[in-house]
Amino acid sequence: MMMKKREGSLFRTVIAVTLTLLLCFLIADSEIRCIESERRALLNFKQDLDVPSDWLASWTASDVDCCDWVGVVCHNHTGHVLQLHLASFMFGGEINPSLLDLKHLIYLDLSGNYFNHTPIPKFLGSMGSLRYLNLSNAGFGGLIPHQLGNLSNLQYLDLECDYYDLHVKNLQWLSGLPLLQHLDLSSANLSQASDWLQEINKLPSLSELRLSSCALSGFIPPPIPSSINFSSLTTLDLSSNSLDFNSILFWVFGLQNLVSLDLSENLFPGPIPVHLQNLTSLRHLDLSLTFFDSSIPNWLYSFSHLEFLNLGYNNLQGRISSAIGNLTSAISIDLSSNELEGNVPRSIGNLSSLRSLDLGHNQINGTLPQSFGQLSKLESLNIGFNMLEGVVSEVHFAKLMRLKKLFASHNRLTLKVSDNWTPPFQLNTLVLRSWNLGSKFPSWLYSQKQLLSLDISNTGIIDAVPPWFWNLSSQFDYLNISHNQIYGEFPHIPLILSYLSTIDVSSNNFTGPLPCISSNVTFLDLSNNLLSGSISHFLCYKINDSQSMEFLNLGNNLLSGKISNCWMKWQSLILLNLENNNFTGKIPASIGSLINLQSLHMYNNKLSGKLLSLLKNCTDLVTFDIGKNEFDGSIPKWIGHRLSSLKILSLRSNNFCGQIPDELCALASLQILDLSHNKLFGSIPKCVNNFITMARNNNSISPFYFFYVVSPDYSDGPFESELLVIKGNSLEYSTTLGLVNIIDLSNNNLSGEIPKEVASLQGLQSLNLSFNILTGRIPENIGDMRSIESIDFSINQLSGQIPQSMSSLTFLSHLNLSNNNLIGRIPSSTQLQSLSASSFFGNKLCGPPLTENCTINYVKPNIENKRSKGFGGHMVDWFFVSMALGFVVGFWVVLGPLLWNKQWRILYFQFLDHLGYKLSGVVAQIWYSIVSKCCKILNI
Ligand SMILES: *[C@@H]1O[C@H](CO)[C@@H](O)[C@H](O)[C@H]1NC(C)=O
Ligand SMILES: *[C@@H]1O[C@H](CO)[C@@H](O)[C@H](O)[C@H]1NC(C)=O
Ligand SMILES: *[C@@H]1O[C@H](CO)[C@@H](O)[C@H](O)[C@H]1NC(C)=O
Ligand SMILES: *[C@@H]1O[C@H](CO)[C@@H](O)[C@H](O)[C@H]1NC(C)=O
Ligand SMILES: *[C@@H]1O[C@H](CO)[C@@H](O)[C@H](O)[C@H]1NC(C)=O
Ligand SMILES: *[C@@H]1O[C@H](CO)[C@@H](O)[C@H](O)[C@H]1NC(C)=O
Repeated sequence: MMMKKREGSLFRTVIAVTLTLLLCFLIADSEIRCIESERRALLNFKQDLDVPSDWLASWTASDVDCCDWVGVVCHNHTGHVLQLHLASFMFGGEINPSLLDLKHLIYLDLSGNYFNHTPIPKFLGSMGSLRYLNLSNAGFGGLIPHQLGNLSNLQYLDLECDYYDLHVKNLQWLSGLPLLQHLDLSSANLSQASDWLQEINKLPSLSELRLSSCALSGFIPPPIPSSINFSSLTTLDLSSNSLDFNSILFWVFGLQNLVSLDLSENLFPGPIPVHLQNLTSLRHLDLSLTFFDSSIPNWLYSFSHLEFLNLGYNNLQGRISSAIGNLTSAISIDLSSNELEGNVPRSIGNLSSLRSLDLGHNQINGTLPQSFGQLSKLESLNIGFNMLEGVVSEVHFAKLMRLKKLFASHNRLTLKVSDNWTPPFQLNTLVLRSWNLGSKFPSWLYSQKQLLSLDISNTGIIDAVPPWFWNLSSQFDYLNISHNQIYGEFPHIPLILSYLSTIDVSSNNFTGPLPCISSNVTFLDLSNNLLSGSISHFLCYKINDSQSMEFLNLGNNLLSGKISNCWMKWQSLILLNLENNNFTGKIPASIGSLINLQSLHMYNNKLSGKLLSLLKNCTDLVTFDIGKNEFDGSIPKWIGHRLSSLKILSLRSNNFCGQIPDELCALASLQILDLSHNKLFGSIPKCVNNFITMARNNNSISPFYFFYVVSPDYSDGPFESELLVIKGNSLEYSTTLGLVNIIDLSNNNLSGEIPKEVASLQGLQSLNLSFNILTGRIPENIGDMRSIESIDFSINQLSGQIPQSMSSLTFLSHLNLSNNNLIGRIPSSTQLQSLSASSFFGNKLCGPPLTENCTINYVKPNIENKRSKGFGGHMVDWFFVSMALGFVVGFWVVLGPLLWNKQWRILYFQFLDHLGYKLSGVVAQIWYSIVSKCCKILNI
C-alpha cells in the first residue's frame, strides 16, 4: 500500500519536473526578444524611408520585440534578424546604413518599391552574410555598384529594373560571387559590358540566368571559352536583345540541362537551328518574335517534356504536322501570327494536358477537327484570323468544360447547334466575329452567366434581341453585336455595363429612341441604325453624373430636333459623331466645354448659325467636319491659332461667306482643307505654303485614329474616317486617311490669281479650285507639285499658256482645265497627252489630246495684254459679252446698290466676266442669293 503510494508520488514528481522543464523551454522560447541594437537599426532604417501611411505600423519604438514586426524574420534561438521581406511596400526615400548593424541578415527583399532613380547604396556590398538580395523593380537607377561583388555568400541576386535604369561598365565584380545560383539583370543596360559572357562563365553554380532586354546586341562574340562552366544552367532568358544567332549558338546549345529557354525578340532570320534538338530536357521554350522563317522542324515534336512552346510572331511556313499529337506534356502552345497553312491535324485531340492553344493569324484552312472536343483541360483557344471553313457543332465542344476564352473571329465557320444546346463551358470571353451563326439570336448564350466580353458582330443575325440578353449584358465590359440585322427597340431601363465598357451595336436595324446609358460606358457606337427622336433625354439623363464616355458615335440615324445644351458633363469625350442625321438649330454653347475633343463630325444635318467662338477651347481637335449644314457668317480667324492640331477641316456646303482668313495658314498639321460650296470671296491666301504637312513630300504617315479600343482579341480600330471628294468621286477614307493631302476650294467666288505659293505644297495630291472666278496664269512652277494626282481649275478665267512645267507632273491622272481662257499649245508629256480631251475643252488650246492642231495661230497676244491691263479691260469685256448674252438687264438690279463699294464692284465685274464664258443661269441664281445674304450678314 505504502509502496504504491510512494511509487505514485514519484511518478507525479517526474511528471511535474518534466512539465516544468517543458514549460521553461516554452517560456524561454517565446520570450526571445530581438537584439536591441538591431531593433534600433530597424527603426533608423524606417525613419529614412517614405512609407505611405502606416504600412510599417507595427515598427514602433514602443514595441520591444522587433521579431514580431511585419516583414521581419528572426532566428528562433538567437533572436538575430535573419530576413527582411519588404517587397511592394510602396516606399521610397533613402536606405539608412544602419542596415549594416544587422550582421546576420541573410535575406533582403526590397523589390517592388520606388526609390526614385537613386543609386543602389554601395554599403550593401558590406553585408557579407547576405545570401539573397532582391532589388528588382525598386526604382533604383544609375551604375550598379561593383561593391556588390563583395557579397561572397550571395546565392540570389535580382536587380531587374525599368528599361535601362541601371547600367554597368563591366561585370568583373561578378567573379566575387562564386556561390551565385540565380542572377537577374533584366532591363539593365549591359551594352558596355563586352565581357559579360566570360564573367558569367566564372559562376559554376549558376542555374538561372535572366538577361532580358540588356542591350546585348552590340555584342561581338568574344573568344569562345574553352569550356562552359555554368553547364548546370537550367533557366536562360536572353529575350529582347536583338542578338543575332551566330553570337550565341556556340554555347547556348551546349547547355544540355536547360529546362527553360527564352530567346524571344531577337534577330534570327532563317530556319530554326538544328542544334536546338540536343536540348531534350526543355520544358519551356520561347522563340517568339525571332524572325524564323522555316517550317516547324519535325524533331521539335519529339520534345516529350515540353510544357510551354511559343513560336508566335515569326514567319514560319508549311503545315502543322500530325506529330504535334506527341507533345503530350504540352500545357500551352502558341503558333500564332505565322504563315502556317493546311489543316489543323486531328491528332491535336491527343494533347490531353493542353490548357492554352493559339493558332490565330495564320492561313490554316480546312475544317476544324472534331477532336478539339476532347481537349478537356483547355481553358483558352484562339483560332481567329485563319481560313477555316465548314460547320462547327456541339461535338467540337463536347468535353471543353474548362473553356473560358474562345477567340475565333475571321474564319468562314458556321455554328450549327440545337436550339436547346447547353454548352459544357462557362465562358468569360467569346469572339465569333464574322461567323455564320444563323439568323436567330443565339439562345445558348443564355447559359453563359460569366461572360464579360462578347463579340458576335457580322454573324448574319436577323432577329430581335431577347430580353434576357440585356440582363446578362449588365456584367459585360465589352459588347459588340454590330453589323447584323438586329431589330427592335432598346429597353427603357439604362444599359448598365461594368467598368470601362465598350458597346458597339452599330450597323443594325435598331429603331425607336436612343437608349439610356450608364455613366461608366466609355465607348458607344450606335451609328448606322434607324434610331429616331431627339437626343435630349440621352444627353441630359442624370446630368449630375459626369460621364466617362470618350467615344460617342450616333451618326447615320434618323435623329432630329435640337442638340441639347447638356455637354458640360461629357468632358471625357474624344470623338463625337452626329453626322447624317436631321439635327436642327444651333450648336449649343456647352459644346465648348468638350476640351478633350479630338474629332467632331456633324456632316449632313440642318444645323445653322455662326461659329463665333464656340469651339475656341476645343484645342485638341484634329478633325472638324461640319460640312453640308446651313452654317453662315465668316470663317473664324481663331481656328488658325486655337485649333493648331487640326488635320481635317471641312466646312463644305454651308453658307460661309467673306474671305478665307490668312490666319488659317497657321494650321501646320492640316492635311485636308475643304471649304468648297460656300460663298467665300476674295483671293486665295498667299500663305498657303505654311501648311507644312501638305508641303512635305513624305507619304509615310500612319493612319490616324484616336482610340485604341482594347477589344478582346486586340484587333485594330476604330479608325478615323472621312468622306472625301477626290477626282470627282466621293469616297470614305479611313485607314489610308493619314496619307491624304487635299485642298478643295471649289464652288466659291474666289478671285485674283492662283498664288504661286500653292506650288510649294509638294505633298498635295488633289487641288480643286473649280467654279471660282480666278484670273491670271496658272503658276509657272506648278511642276513642283510632285505628288499631285488631281487638278481641277475648270470654270474660272485663267489665261495665258499652260506652263511647260506641268508636263513633269508624273502622278497626274485627273486634270480639268476646261472652260478658262487658256491659249496655245498643250505641253507635251506622256502624262498630259494621255488625259481625256475634255480636260482642255472650252479654251483656245491646241495640240494633242485635242484634235485642233497648232498650225492655225490660236495665240492672240492682245488677249493676254488686255487681261494684264486690269480692271478697265474687264469692264469692257464684261459689257460686250453680257450685252450680247442678254444677261445685263437682270443684273443691273443687283449691280445698282453695289456701285458705291469698290471691292464689291471689282468682284462683281469679274463675276460677270466669268459668267460671259459660262452662260450659266444657275450660277447667276447663286450669285444673287450670295449678294443678298452675305451683305446682310456682313452688314454691308
Ligand atoms: C522557426 O520556427 C518556426 C516554427 O516554430 C519554423 O517554421 C521556422 O522555419 C524556424 N525558423 C528558423 C530560422 O529556424
Ligand atoms: C524578386 O522579387 C520579385 C517581386 O517581388 C519576384 O517576382 C522575383 O521572383 C524575386 N526574385 C527572386 C530571385 O526571388
Ligand atoms: C569590397 O571590395 C572592394 C573592391 O571592390 C575592396 O577594396 C574592399 O576591401 C572590399 N570590402 C570588404 C569588406 O570585403
Ligand atoms: C571556370 O570557373 C573557374 C572559377 O570557378 C575559373 O577559374 C575558370 O577560368 C572558368 N573557366 C572558364 C573557361 O572561364
Ligand atoms: C488548304 O491550303 C493548301 C495549301 O495552301 C491547299 O493545297 C489546299 O487545297 C487547301 N485546302 C482547302 C480545303 O482549301
Ligand atoms: C474657354 O475657357 C475659358 C477659360 O477656361 C473660359 O473663360 C471661356 O468661357 C471658355 N470659352 C468657351 C467658348 O467655352
